[in-house]
Amino acid sequence: MPEASDQNIVNAARAIERGELVAFPTETVYGLGADAENADAVAKIFALKGRPQDHPVIVHITDATQLSHWAREVPAFAHELIKHFWPGPLTLVLNKQPGVADACTGGQGTIGLRCPAHPVALALLREFKQGQGGIAAPSANKFGKLSPTTAQHVRESFGETLPILDGGACEVGIESTIVDGSRPELGAVLLRPGMLSVAALRAVLGATPLLLPDDINDRANPRVSGALPAHYQPDTPLRLLLNADVIYSKLAVTIGSNVSNSALLCFDASAKSTLDSGFRVLRPMSGEPALYAQHLYANLRELDKLGLDCIYIELPPLTPEWLAIHDRLKRAAHR
Ligand code: TXA
Ligand code: MG
Repeated sequence: MPEASDQNIVNAARAIERGELVAFPTETVYGLGADAENADAVAKIFALKGRPQDHPVIVHITDATQLSHWAREVPAFAHELIKHFWPGPLTLVLNKQPGVADACTGGQGTIGLRCPAHPVALALLREFKQGQGGIAAPSANKFGKLSPTTAQHVRESFGETLPILDGGACEVGIESTIVDGSRPELGAVLLRPGMLSVAALRAVLGATPLLLPDDINDRANPRVSGALPAHYQPDTPLRLLLNADVIYSKLAVTIGSNVSNSALLCFDASAKSTLDSGFRVLRPMSGEPALYAQHLYANLRELDKLGLDCIYIELPPLTPEWLAIHDRLKRAAHR
């Protein structure tokens, strides 16, 4: 796997300073980066992604010393979360300083801030504007599609002309946990679950973060694309199998349609393949949430190229450590 060299990183920082776009790895997914304080550069992100203008983008920063440049109000609980989880897969939505990075906020008074844990991302942030800048970066995919977890995924969406820092495959594999700290009277509000779990947040907060139902969240935060019912989607229709303990030999019958051109993402493929399930592809998935998340999007992208009628997914257990994965599966399957 070609790793971005120091010179690649310096060149990328200079390109972003000139107002160009560069894709870069984070520990969650690859981002499509631009100078957060250059409105023309940020506009290029929206144009390339085909993203609605009023959806805000996350600003990536070097470390917590940069917070006060962007956020005007940081509640004590947000400081605690930052102390424990930055650099890491946690984005905080905070009330923003007036006049900064308006192009990144979709017209809202809040800003999403994150310090990523990937060494290439951190080196890029330290090099860009000598560590004092912010890099606006949504996931490097077309709007509504699956986030990329390798440099090759980014190339498949945007071609060879977009510069990409290659940092190998992303370790986390799905997007960061987003906590809203802009309404301190509500405490911490979970806007998007991620692999930084509710249990981990609770351990620091001393309380469970508020999880608003999507419809209320949409009204309070109308421009959170990650909260749209259809998001993170492959082109192939995706169907979730609710009965976790399906009898695999009978599954094709249970589904009631011809599955000879379909795939099944399942937890125990060895047992199933011997049972002649009738599926064209059986894709074994890990029973460990962290490993499942790491490989989920890469698997869906690979299966998406096969011209399948449908991708069936055996739902993981309905337990808290699978919350973020359930969230992505639900949105990916929404039609
Ligand atoms: O892991 C991640 O968060 C990746 C990597 C590249 O950092 N980024 C990512 O960005 O997933 P994106 O734009 O695809 O999703 C960010 C989500 C969107 O749903 C966006 O609407 C929301 O964060 N968001 C950003 N700023 C916000 C704000 N000020 N208020 C509410 N939501 C915000
Ligand atoms: Mg995205």
